[in-house]
Amino acid sequence: MVTEQSFIMVKPDGVQRGLVGDIIKRYEQRGYTLKGLKLMNVDKSLAEKHYEEHQGKPFFPKLVDFITSGPVCAMVWEGKNIVAAGRTMIGATNPQASAPGTIRGDYGIDMGRNIIHGSDSVESARREIGLWFPEGLAEWTPVAKPWIY
Ligand code: TYD
Ligand code: MG
Repeated sequence: MVTEQSFIMVKPDGVQRGLVGDIIKRYEQRGYTLKGLKLMNVDKSLAEKHYEEHQGKPFFPKLVDFITSGPVCAMVWEGKNIVAAGRTMIGATNPQASAPGTIRGDYGIDMGRNIIHGSDSVESARREIGLWFPEGLAEWTPVAKPWIY
């Protein structure tokens, strides 16, 4: 069975504000499976590749500065509809427009510091997972029945 995966990253503001645990808890409790996790500093080249779709836009240099400013928590989560549902859990790009109950709506007020990244399509997820986890992911098979999250 091929299960959908998404690349989810707690940005430097989320790490420094101690939000990693809460964010992991939300995905775990929803029923998703953690497949990759690492705290890492990001160099300019990785930041630019990750955000390559935004190259040339006015906010791009600040975005790269921000992502390289301190460690991020890079993760891969797996499960039914994780790409779209993961984005719903994150909320809108601008935290001010994010509903309460979403990660950005609960913790953010600034577009430039919006706590978390989530892949926006299955195709981007594949690209981003390859970029951030070139070493591959841990393999494990849940022992519970498939319908027990
Ligand atoms: P984008 O991919 O549009 O948003 P999302 O993270 O919701 O997929 O933009 C990437 C990041 O760039 C976004 O999280 C915050 C930053 N950004 C700005 O600082 N200003 C902007 O006007 C936009 C669109 C994004
Ligand atoms: Mg995006």
